[in-house]
This record gives sequence, structure tokens and C-alpha cells, in this order.
Amino acid sequence: MTTDSLGNPVSYRDQAAIAGLEATVVKLHGYQADPIADIDAVLAEHPDFAMAHAFRAGALATAADRAFEPELLRSLAAAEALAPQANERERGHIAAARAWARGDITGATELWGRTAMEHPRDLLAVQLGQIGDFMLGYSHMLRDRVARVLPHWHRGMPGHGFILGMHAFGLEECGDYARAEASGREAVALNPRDGWAVHAVAHVLEMEGRTGEGIAWLGDTAGSWAPGNMFAFHNWWHLGLFHLDRGEIAEVLRLFDEGVAGGGFGQALELVDGAAMLWRLHVLGHDVGGRWSRVMPGWAARIEDRVFAFNDLHAMMAFIGTDDQAAQRALLASLTRAAEGEGTDAMMAREVGLPACRGFAAFGRGDYAAAITELLPLRGKANRFGGSHAQRDVLSWTLVEAAIRLGDRPLAEGLLAERLAAKPESPVNLGWARRSAALAERHAA
Ligand SMILES: [Fe+2]
Repeated sequence: MTTDSLGNPVSYRDQAAIAGLEATVVKLHGYQADPIADIDAVLAEHPDFAMAHAFRAGALATAADRAFEPELLRSLAAAEALAPQANERERGHIAAARAWARGDITGATELWGRTAMEHPRDLLAVQLGQIGDFMLGYSHMLRDRVARVLPHWHRGMPGHGFILGMHAFGLEECGDYARAEASGREAVALNPRDGWAVHAVAHVLEMEGRTGEGIAWLGDTAGSWAPGNMFAFHNWWHLGLFHLDRGEIAEVLRLFDEGVAGGGFGQALELVDGAAMLWRLHVLGHDVGGRWSRVMPGWAARIEDRVFAFNDLHAMMAFIGTDDQAAQRALLASLTRAAEGEGTDAMMAREVGLPACRGFAAFGRGDYAAAITELLPLRGKANRFGGSHAQRDVLSWTLVEAAIRLGDRPLAEGLLAERLAAKPESPVNLGWARRSAALAERHAA
């Protein structure tokens, strides 16, 4: 039986082709550019390599952007045509990518998860399963799906650092910050270019309010993780969050211009971070200049060609930032149609996406009472539309500001107590607390 270097069975027998695929998969693990160009080079020489097509389909599917759909479908068709010659592991990958393409994110994630349990050193199956868990907001599965394969890995094995980095992110999303930080730092020590492990540690520092350490962690290591990294825009976004907490607005805007916008907003994930950063500034009353126009075209093109309700909330931010009422109405109509359908996204739209978008739209037109009515019940279940705790914090951020502007002192104080319990020294939280206290004085007077 032919295998790759980790012992995973491969139906294709050309060792040079297998080595080419493995090198490409390693790039995806570290989010180094450009795995699609590299796999295309392998496929040009080996068009009958089923697992190479399956890899391409999985990478494109989990990018979660309709812009990649034609290429995704092309890879899926090629992989499925070769499936009779493929082995069970490879057919698991093909079936997972197909499930994702038809909108069954839950099914796709379970298929990659099962493949990983049957082949615990199939690092690609572990990674794509974790991306699925991320999109689904399955915090504990971000940890536990990786934990299932940990006994089959040990120090010194190629790829062990990537397992540590993925486990670190899962531990962080489960609030196990000490173990997450240790695991993430170990992974980065093994491979300073591992952008995902760098990111996992940044999340720990974000959640614990360790702003100065966060700036040092991302800023001092950028020379390692940023060059050639497809995920760099997101780590720049995290660095921007640290500076935003300190009120260093000029630096936030510089990071937006040079980091978050550095890739040109060609893909949905970049647009999410761009809008999320501008929205936080907007809510705090900072002037972002003409920057909303940077993300507006990308979001306008995704009103009908939408993918995820999570993305739609970020589109709504851009439509509010540009005061485009027609785009807001069109997005709500598109999202309403999606909510009436079936599959993972329909559930996300019904449960979280629609009320969140209606709530943000209400905030945008100054109807803070309506914003609170829509957004407050989402605090407990916003994970159902995916993303990380740090990303979903934008809901709390918006709610606090709405409560203060409405003059609802008990609500503002309750929400702020929640935030201060997690980050007692956060300057943004303390600024809100001062404004909330001023409301209290007015009531008392
Ligand atoms: Fe993140």
C-alpha cells in the first residue's frame, strides 16, 4: 500500500506527486501562500491524482466564499470522477467537500471528523474539520475534535506543531487559557511561521485583556508570521483590536490600511475583518474617513451571492457605514429568503443572522430600543452562527453603546459588569463605565 510520509494511505502511486501534495498541504496548515497554485502545478503533471483534487476542493470549500464556487465545483467533479479508484480515506475527503458545497456544513465537518478518527495522522482532515467547527461555532468541538487524534501524535513528528496550534485555538475557545497559551507557544517555537498558532495565542491575550502583551506578541513576531501568509490580514485585525482598546486610533487606522486591507478585500474573510474593525470604531464615534468605501463593493457583490449569516452581519455594518438604505433592505430580503430554506446557513439566518442584522440596522438609524430588543436575546446563542468569541464580541460592543445612548442605566451597567468581569482594566470598558456612571448621576439628580 502506498502511503504519505505520515502513513496515510494514498491510492495514487507516484511518490513525487505524493510529496508535492504533502508540501502543499503543509502550506495550508500554516496558511502560507499559495496552496492552490502549488496543487495546480502538481495536478498539471498528475491529472488523475484523486487526493490532490480532493485537497483542492476542501481548501476552496472552507474558504467559505461564493467567489470560489466555480473552481470548487470543478475540483469536486474531477475528484468524484476518480472516486472509484480512490481509497476510503480519500472518498471521505471528497464526500465532505461535496457536503459543504451543497450547504451541509454540519455533515461535511462530521465527515472530515470521521476521516480523522479513522486516520488520526490525516492532518488535513483534522484542519478542515476544525474550520467546519469554527464556522458552526462549535467551541468545544474546536478543542475535542483535535483531542481525539492527540494520542497518535508525539513530539518530534513532522506536523506535530500544527496539531498543537489547532488544539491551542480549541482550548482558547473553551476558556482554558493557560493550556491554550502553553500549547500555542510551543507550536510557534517549533515553527514561527505557523500563523494559526500565533493567532491562537493572540486570542488568549485578547480574551484575558493582556493588551500590552498582545501588541508585543503580534508586533514583535510579525516578521516571522506575516510574510507570504494568506491569513495575515486576520492577525493584523487582532493587533488592531489591542490598539483600539488602548485608544490608539491612528495606529488602528494604519493597521486597517496596511494590514487588514493589504490583500485588497478580494475574499469574504478579509471583508469580515475590514467591516468588523470599522464598525467598532464607528460605534465608539471615531471618524474612519472614506474607509467604508473600501469594503462596500465586496459586500454589495455578496448580497445575493451570500454564503453565511455571519458574513451578512458584516455586510450590514458596511451598508450602515455608507448609509446605503437600499443595500440594507436588499440584504434583509436576501437573508429572509435564506432563512426560509434548509441547511446550516438557513438555521444560522433564522436563529442569529436576521435578528442581528435587524438589530444593527436599528442601531444605524438611531433606534436604540429596537436594537436592544433584537440583540439582547442573541447574547446566549450567537455562537450558533459561527465565528470566535472575539469576533462575536461585536454584539456586546454594540449593545453596550446602544444601552448608554438610550440612557438605560441598569442594562448598561449589567452588560458592563459582564465585560469588566472579563477585562477589568480595559480602557474601552472603563470609558463606557464612566459614561454609564454619568447616566446614573443624572437619574439620581
Ligand atoms: Fe481570530
